[in-house]
Amino acid sequence: MNILFAASEAVPFCKTGGLADVVGSLPPALAAGGDNVAVILPLYGQIGEKWRCQMTFRKYIYVDLSWRHEYCGLFSLQYQGVTWYFVDNEHYFKRDKLYGEYDDGERFAFFSRAVVALLPHLDTMPDVIHCNDWQTALVSVYLRDDACRWDVLRRIKTVFTIHNIEYQGRMGADTVEDLLGLHHGWYDDGTLQMDGDVNVLKAALLCSDAVTTVSPTYARQLHDAAYAHGMEQIIHLIGDKLHGVLNGIDTQSYDPAQDGVIPERFSASDLGGKAACKAALQKELGLAVEPDTPLIGMISRLVGHKGLDLVCEALDGIMENGVQLVVLGQGDKRFEDFFRDAQRRYPGRLCAYIGYADALARRAYAGCDLFLMPSKSEPCGLSQMIAMRYGTVPIVRQTGGLNDTVHSCQLGQRGNGFVFAEYRAADMLSVVCQAVALYRYNPVGYAAVQGVGMRDDFTWNRSAEAYRRIYREL
Ligand code: GLC
Repeated sequence: MNILFAASEAVPFCKTGGLADVVGSLPPALAAGGDNVAVILPLYGQIGEKWRCQMTFRKYIYVDLSWRHEYCGLFSLQYQGVTWYFVDNEHYFKRDKLYGEYDDGERFAFFSRAVVALLPHLDTMPDVIHCNDWQTALVSVYLRDDACRWDVLRRIKTVFTIHNIEYQGRMGADTVEDLLGLHHGWYDDGTLQMDGDVNVLKAALLCSDAVTTVSPTYARQLHDAAYAHGMEQIIHLIGDKLHGVLNGIDTQSYDPAQDGVIPERFSASDLGGKAACKAALQKELGLAVEPDTPLIGMISRLVGHKGLDLVCEALDGIMENGVQLVVLGQGDKRFEDFFRDAQRRYPGRLCAYIGYADALARRAYAGCDLFLMPSKSEPCGLSQMIAMRYGTVPIVRQTGGLNDTVHSCQLGQRGNGFVFAEYRAADMLSVVCQAVALYRYNPVGYAAVQGVGMRDDFTWNRSAEAYRRIYREL
């Protein structure tokens, strides 16, 4: 089968979050199973020379977006059994950051329009186009719009994956004709319209042949107004079209026995090197080099749904346990400021690295003892799985994909981590205290939990099969 992924980021080319990890690892996993897989991405200015020099220029066309007539170049390269296509338009994609620009709506409408317009110029016409999040939500709309006039498009099926329903791509109603270049009927019949605005996510949920989200628990939660960000009625409406398929991670890249950027390698059967990773991390981050002090890590975008309110509220309580804390990430200013200030208040015991650096993140996964992820909502979450691969025991709130990947070791159960249910700082704190106590007073018990997590199967095998089944059914 020919599958084309459309997405706004993918490892190793460009990344802001977990979406990039998924788009970087699921397509190669599907290709390894025998499917013919391609991915199409914007050619951002941030994509480095290392990749650009491997690209072949394929051709250029012009893409019309209402009255705009825009240059659209197509490049490609081969990597990990997958054809990676890049859409070139410097006006839209040579910017300081991937998102957060004043004209994001226009930039990704252009990208979605370009994906459909470029179909006849790709190596193969796809059987399925698999789109991801709001940035590529309009692909299914443009595909249907063009299919009325262009027969070959009619047999292409579309799958849309919700990585996070919070981000919906809302724009003013006046954009329908003037920007998106669509007939107003798409708005008037309710496909694009939500609460008086254009909402491209809604349109994708309605127009795609199948909709998936990144864990079974999140798929269930999306029926609930507390998680659906206003989309619960639409989720009810699409019924069986929605599937929850748990993400995997790239277990070859995230492998403490092979990872080239950690100071010493280790594995589930030989954990010797982990102590050296911890000491090196403490040194690198200016923490006291103390082998026995429990070291808790948080590696996260610093945004509301990651549960940071709880950490702000309980921080002093956590630190009273005599632990060290490492926070790596960037995001909302109030959280960045909070953790910068916390570092001043706990010198040598708390490090806040505001930014994102892949190699440092890997050294932190390897060097920490415990990993805190108290998300308010979490569609899937990948960091808890990466942490477990590196023998770092997770403490998570029981929600979304955290619920599907972390199993409680509390109350004498054989689990791979610690969980709490209610979104309350006191509940989180009491579980953090339990985890710290296990680490400190029961090394055998801690090693057992660590071993379960390190041996768990976080590969794409099972989920790639689930996607294959969805494609075939369509
Ligand atoms: C988003 C979600 C996260 C998920 C990732 C990949 O970043 O917030 O939970 O793991 O997408 O699907």
